[in-house]
Amino acid sequence: MNQQALWDAFYKKQSWQRETTSLPKGSCTGKRILELGCGNGKTLRAILAQEPRAVVAVDFSAQALKQAQETIKDKRVTFVQAEVFALPHELGKFDSILCYYLLNNLSLKEQKKFFSFLNSFLTSSGTLFIEDYAKGDYRENKKSLFKRTFLTKAALTQVLQNYQSTITEHAFTPYKKASATRKIIRAIATQQWFSN
Ligand SMILES: C[S@@+](CC[C@H](N)C(=O)[O-])C[C@H]1O[C@@H](n2cnc3c(N)ncnc32)[C@H](O)[C@@H]1O
Repeated sequence: MNQQALWDAFYKKQSWQRETTSLPKGSCTGKRILELGCGNGKTLRAILAQEPRAVVAVDFSAQALKQAQETIKDKRVTFVQAEVFALPHELGKFDSILCYYLLNNLSLKEQKKFFSFLNSFLTSSGTLFIEDYAKGDYRENKKSLFKRTFLTKAALTQVLQNYQSTITEHAFTPYKKASATRKIIRAIATQQWFSN
């Protein structure tokens, strides 16, 4: 089964219910936003709470988008089913692009390619907001059919080499079970030497 089919199968059975709480304050307010890998809308709900001007929410899973569209009915949102490497250029430019737990689905090589491709979708003063699993997260030892890349600060710095970025790692221990550690990585990045 390819990754898209795996995600469709996942969303047929389950979904995330809670809303993302880690979105930096004001990161979306009054802005045109692109959310990549929006899933069933966990982060999208947090984006909308910040009163953006408009949001394009992208995922390659039809099942994820179906769930998101059933619960999020907001005129500011346009849902697009697309593979992140095949985003149509007609989408235009965005003030902020959010990738929440999307990168772990791409290899480091793919991530590098992805961020140079993403440049053309950011306004010259636009900002990228990233959150994902970090190396050492308890999921690393779990078997999964999903492609999984657990990030380090050094790897993400490399991946974002054409951006000016602030990268932070966060560990939550104990997490759920006393033995588990939840480790995540966040980045806020702006373009370094590309101009529109
Ligand atoms: C872990 S979920 C994150 C969902 C959401 N961003 C959140 O914060 O809850 C990852 C999502 O990325 C989507 N995805 C993975 N690889 C993708 C790709 N190459 N193109 C488009 N969507 C992708 C999956 O379908 C899934 O919905």
